Amino acid sequence: MTTQEITKVQELIYTTRVETVMAADVIVLKPEMSMSEVKNLMRSMRIAGAPVMDGDRILGMVSLSDVMDAMEKGRMDTPVVDNMTKEVKTVLKDASVTEAIHNLGRQGFGRLPVVDRDGKLVGIVTTGTVIRALLHEMDVSFQRKEAEKIQTYRASHIFEDISSDDTSLILRYVVDDKDFANAGKASSMIKKSLQRLGVLPSIIRRVAVAVYEAEMNLVIHTDVGGEIIVDIREDRLMISAVDHGPGIEDLAQVLQPGYSTAPEWIRDMGFGAGMGLANIKRCSDTMSLRSELGGGTRLDIVFIFGQNALRLRAASGKKS
Ligand SMILES: Nc1ncnc2c1ncn2[C@@H]1O[C@H](COP(=O)(O)OP(=O)(O)OP(=O)(O)O)[C@@H](O)[C@H]1O
Ligand SMILES: [Mg+2]
Repeated sequence: MTTQEITKVQELIYTTRVETVMAADVIVLKPEMSMSEVKNLMRSMRIAGAPVMDGDRILGMVSLSDVMDAMEKGRMDTPVVDNMTKEVKTVLKDASVTEAIHNLGRQGFGRLPVVDRDGKLVGIVTTGTVIRALLHEMDVSFQRKEAEKIQTYRASHIFEDISSDDTSLILRYVVDDKDFANAGKASSMIKKSLQRLGVLPSIIRRVAVAVYEAEMNLVIHTDVGGEIIVDIREDRLMISAVDHGPGIEDLAQVLQPGYSTAPEWIRDMGFGAGMGLANIKRCSDTMSLRSELGGGTRLDIVFIFGQNALRLRAASGKKS
């Protein structure tokens, strides 16, 4: 089995929620506004489209091309409600950025209104807001890394300073079920801890994606959440995601890429493609899944540091 390199951008897109990359101050249009008013507003606010709202309800979307159509047809005095696109694709604020990018790429959806679970408009995403937010996030993580260099250097000494036949550092994280507001927190804390310990960035990116998938499975598929346990050794990293139910009936089936039992509302958030376990397998050195229906599920994944051992990192710990 080959493991795959994950780029920083891929990791970010994967593990960031739409809420983080949206613009929260949405310019909205009233249905009765004329198309020439809309044109002037879009020009002065420098926007290329906006949702048309009836109170809290999204009636439609207007884009520059709707304005151009109206101009050509001499309909600039008619209300926007008669010129807008009525089929509006929205994205949930808790959805993964992957979901937003997927829909932005489709024809006719240059901007997506972002809604909460009650359908209330909370923001808007465009390719521009996504790129700005991701660049900002990369900048912040770079600065953080700079600031943490000294701490990293110290933390990576644990394995040299403590003498035992086999030193192991255990980190535990509790993950609640259906708690989308906090989903991803455990994986980001794990990532940060590994950075401080001086684990190579290329390994951390693989771990981040695998752990994120494991965490999302606890959030989405369990009754009462579960626990992620990270066991850090000098030469390897062992991670387990453990829960107490509902368990899995057919292990071979769930391991097939594309198989998912996620309900519709989960799919609407961009999860439930049935690719999580396949991604974990791809990113890790070994993976094993144990479960029984009515009992719990246990996922074990291992990452081997090999010649990139923590001790070697510590010796040359000033780099990156
Ligand atoms: N901890 C778990 N408890 C019970 N069932 C699980 C658990 N983890 C995974 N499954 C089952 O395995 C299936 C496949 O999981 P996988 O992570 O590959 O895909 P998914 O979670 O459905 O979709 P995606 O990960 O692409 O968002 C799930 O749909 C679910 O039925
Ligand atoms: Mg999954």
